[in-house]
Amino acid sequence: MSLIKKAVFPVAGLGTRFLPATKANPKEMMPVVDKPLIQYAVEEAIEAGITEMIFVTSSAKRAIEDHFDKNYEMEAELEKKGKHELLALLRGIVPKGISCVYIRQPEALGLGHAVLCAKPVVGNEPFAVLLADDLIDGHDRGVVRQMVNLYGEYHCSILGVEEVPASDTDKYGIVSTGNDDGEVANITNIIEKPKPVQAPSNLAVVGRYLLTPRIFDFLERTHKGSGGEIQLTDAIAELLAEEKVLAYRFKGKRYDCGSKLGYLQATVEYALKHPDLKDAFAAYLAGVKG
Ligand code: UTP
Repeated sequence: MSLIKKAVFPVAGLGTRFLPATKANPKEMMPVVDKPLIQYAVEEAIEAGITEMIFVTSSAKRAIEDHFDKNYEMEAELEKKGKHELLALLRGIVPKGISCVYIRQPEALGLGHAVLCAKPVVGNEPFAVLLADDLIDGHDRGVVRQMVNLYGEYHCSILGVEEVPASDTDKYGIVSTGNDDGEVANITNIIEKPKPVQAPSNLAVVGRYLLTPRIFDFLERTHKGSGGEIQLTDAIAELLAEEKVLAYRFKGKRYDCGSKLGYLQATVEYALKHPDLKDAFAAYLAGVKG
């Protein structure tokens, strides 16, 4: 049984960087090859032993609920046609023992506010937060699995981090660290989207968090910060004063699928690894380059 049983997926953002694609379709439902981003994130949580998936959603994101619900009509049709492999694929989206809960964020007031919306379902236990638009191809095992293992050792909040170009610090929460062994470091400060000249480092928080429930007390008191939004980063900065929070340099490759370039990179690289596609796609790409 995993020490972390619940994962929160904030999916209520507006996805403006991907307009017009995200006008009527959720960003998190965009496919990388043949699977929507949100399904990759849910699979990563399941691999880590998490059994309760909590989606913080909005009226524009109903397709996400439908994706994780049973589609009787399609299943009946596949059954009738004897397409058992596809049937198993559909039925495997939510394996037995996994439950999905949906909570509405009435207004996109920021990531911190979205996480706070999950409080009644998370309750008083540690939980994971996954941002589906950060697609991470973990080495050996998924990043959340790596972090849950680390939680077993440290029993404190852990943030997934990676080094970003110094010119990009204003896109991320940036941490200052002490006591750094090159993989795990104590966070001494965290600041949301600092300009490169003000950034204390280039160590950026990406979309994987393990948080203790104490974070909710701070989120309740957090005011609007960077970009006029209630920022998770600001609440973590408060949490730091009371509890140890670790930065973990995860083992894996991250694709920022909230940006067009990152999404295209993920699509190409996942297609080059896809069992049914890789050879034909590699041949096609070679032709494009030539
Ligand atoms: P982003 O910063 O990527 O914002 O949010 P966004 O609205 O999705 O996209 P852009 O920047 O306008 O293109 C990071 C994560 O937090 C969620 C988003 O759905 C995304 O998964 N989020 C953000 C919420 O759930 N609610 C919010 O109020 C803000």
